[in-house]
Amino acid sequence: MKTTVILALSLVVSVGVAHGGAAEGKDLYNAKCQSCHGANGEGKAAIGKAFGVTMKPLGSKEVQATSAADMKKAILSGAGKMKPVAGITDKQADDIVAYVKTLK
Ligand code: HEC
Repeated sequence: MKTTVILALSLVVSVGVAHGGAAEGKDLYNAKCQSCHGANGEGKAAIGKAFGVTMKPLGSKEVQATSAADMKKAILSGAGKMKPVAGITDKQADDIVAYVKTLK
């Protein structure tokens, strides 16, 4: 009985990892986005200045209202002054979007 519970739990854990999602997205965010958008998506003022824009906090109502599809497009194809972020697969972009959607 105990073994069954442990087996079931480890299955849940490994499936969770395999699916990636927000947890994996967080690591990718820290590696690929944080340098400009800040640790919590607040946006770095110096970057905004350099690009001549006001960085909207990613957790703001306005940005959160962006659909997952549009957010993904921003990552893969760029948005306004933001260039497409290099070295991100389609699935990784989904994971990053899942994470950004938690920044409310
Ligand atoms: C080199 C700096 C830089 C990096 C790296 C970067 N961004 Fe951006 N991002 C910007 C700038 C600047 C803007 C504002 C663009 C504008 O307003 O024209 C922006 C805008 C956005 C927007 C649109 C928000 C809005 O203003 O409506 C989203 C969403 C976004 N970034 C997500 C990401 C994600 C996710 C990553 C990582 C995969 C990332 N960005 C990496 C600089 C960056």
